[in-house]
Amino acid sequence: MISRQSIDAVINAAAIEEVVGDYIALKKRGANLLGRCPFHDEKTPSFTVSPAKGIYKCFGCGKAGNSVSFLMEHDNLNFADAIRKLAAKYNITLEEDTIINREEYNEAQQKRENLLIALLFARDFFREQLKSEEGRIVGDSYFRERGFTQQTIDEFELGYSPQGWESLVNAAKANRFNLDYFADAGLVKKKEDGSYFDMFRHRVIFPIHDLTGKVIAFGGRQLEKDERSPKYLNSPETDVYHKSQVLYGIFQAKKHIKALNNCYLVEGYTDVTTLHQGDVKNVVASSGTSLTEGQIRLIKRFTDNVTVLYDGDAAGIKASLRGIDLLLEQGLNVRTVSFPEGEDPDSYCKKLGAAAFREYLQSANKDFILFKTDLLMEGVANDPIKKTEVVKSLLTSISLIPDALKRAAYARECSKLMDMDEKLLLVEIAKLRKSKGSIEQQVISTEIRDMLQTELPKPETYSGGDLQELHLVRLLIQSGHKKFTEDTTVADFIFKELQEDEALRIVNPVYQKVIEEVAGNILSTPEDFTLSEQFFINHEDGDIRRLAADFLTERYELSPAWLEGGIVLKTERENYVHDLQSLFLFLKKTKVEQLIKANLEEFGNAADEHQKESCMQYHMQLIGVRNAIAELLGTVVSS
Ligand code: GTP
Ligand code: MN
Repeated sequence: MISRQSIDAVINAAAIEEVVGDYIALKKRGANLLGRCPFHDEKTPSFTVSPAKGIYKCFGCGKAGNSVSFLMEHDNLNFADAIRKLAAKYNITLEEDTIINREEYNEAQQKRENLLIALLFARDFFREQLKSEEGRIVGDSYFRERGFTQQTIDEFELGYSPQGWESLVNAAKANRFNLDYFADAGLVKKKEDGSYFDMFRHRVIFPIHDLTGKVIAFGGRQLEKDERSPKYLNSPETDVYHKSQVLYGIFQAKKHIKALNNCYLVEGYTDVTTLHQGDVKNVVASSGTSLTEGQIRLIKRFTDNVTVLYDGDAAGIKASLRGIDLLLEQGLNVRTVSFPEGEDPDSYCKKLGAAAFREYLQSANKDFILFKTDLLMEGVANDPIKKTEVVKSLLTSISLIPDALKRAAYARECSKLMDMDEKLLLVEIAKLRKSKGSIEQQVISTEIRDMLQTELPKPETYSGGDLQELHLVRLLIQSGHKKFTEDTTVADFIFKELQEDEALRIVNPVYQKVIEEVAGNILSTPEDFTLSEQFFINHEDGDIRRLAADFLTERYELSPAWLEGGIVLKTERENYVHDLQSLFLFLKKTKVEQLIKANLEEFGNAADEHQKESCMQYHMQLIGVRNAIAELLGTVVSS
């Protein structure tokens, strides 16, 4: 047990912005810091850190807490281990007795722990073996031959697995480990007679680290070409190793990626180690598999800029173009470098020498659009049909980019490169986005849908959507004075919509009061009345003052009310125009759904065929309206 004083000392020392800052990039936003949430996938940052209060809160997924809970959540640690980790970071000596109460761990944690212990033991074993006689002759000399320095070997914790079938097995046994843990980790295999044998034999070993530097798997390379076994042998998926979520080298690269605001993406282990050695340290590898969303998310914690380094063979490059699209779709800026035929980043770096190689990265890197054009246009310059295909492929990539301004910039670039009318390209891009169901719309509407529908009352007691009303009034208070179009304000828009559609009447009495107050002032003295935050903050009505304080502080600070509830709100209101449109669409959709329900009831009680017929017709009409709204919202209509 760690003493209470020690725990307090650690919590006092651990600055939330520093603890979180080790994992994600944070930008200053008023008194707070803002970054992309590490606990869920998001395109716009909503992870808010308040240094003054020592807390974080994600307005996207609702996760909140202090520096200890951050580490517990992020690194899957228990309380005591999170404290230990912070103590190490801040050089605080803990007063504790060393007995670890195993009962504290639940079974799953226990299993992870056992896996990690086995992996840690194996890492140390392989590193030791590199220094043994066999290791020096076989493993170390292999590394030296390929130009690995001692520093690289140490930093990447490289090792060697001996030729025998039971080297690791015997070492584990000698240390009285349960071999089943090693089997779970994919390090050994159990035979029918109950004995075990090593999986990694006669290979040089590349440990795979997670973000925090823990070894979670291994890659082992054969020492000479042998068709009977794979060149690289990799650990299987385990409870601690999920291939699709891991990038080789991320632990060593993360601070460099953040500092340089760019990430080089390569294919292989040796590309990472060689580039690192050549002072290109912001480099990670997807390790031979095609890039996944999880891996991209990992990169996105540190930067928005990726440079993909392609091995020099055209067939391979064409096959991996999908990777570019995935990166674009996740909102990353993509540049590329390709290498001469037969070279990969590792071999080319050695060929040129580190300094010249770094120059090459600078001079040979191309924006993805030029890269794709050059690649696809090879030899088809005069073939109009092929050219059309190339343009389509380019436009498809562009259409995936979430940012409209960037899309427009690339459309211009593409029109120049392919000598085609820019407007025409923009139209095509718009079509492609529409046919894909417009990712942007989907993202926003899902957010809004979650926001609005999580806590809605059951349909029977449905009163027009209390939460929807809340959001409407919040938008009015926060953004009512802002421009909606060139010559109307947000407040104008809200009143126009509410007037036009009687069905959208606000039910909640306090919200109603706010709306009527503003409406009354705008209607009676349109000339000299200007809506402002002060109008609400200093209003004579206590209810309105309270609402205003709540809604207006929330933008800059964490309000305790939001920390507790399940209601999910974003901190920044830059999207208010879009949000407002979506919100009204939602209100309308809710209303139409109520009408559909009422009409179906009438249908059920209809006295004659004639009435049934007219109910049916009305039903079809309503369904049409609902589907049109749903389509606008990008939601999926289920019935
Ligand atoms: P070196 O030949 O040592 O320079 O490795 P490389 O990285 O250049 O190898 P290559 O380009 O052939 O492969 C790229 C990456 O794909 C490797 O780093 C491995 O992660 C992975 N890979 C290659 N061969 C195999 C294999 O046989 N099995 C598995 N599981 N992965 C492989
Ligand atoms: Mn290679």
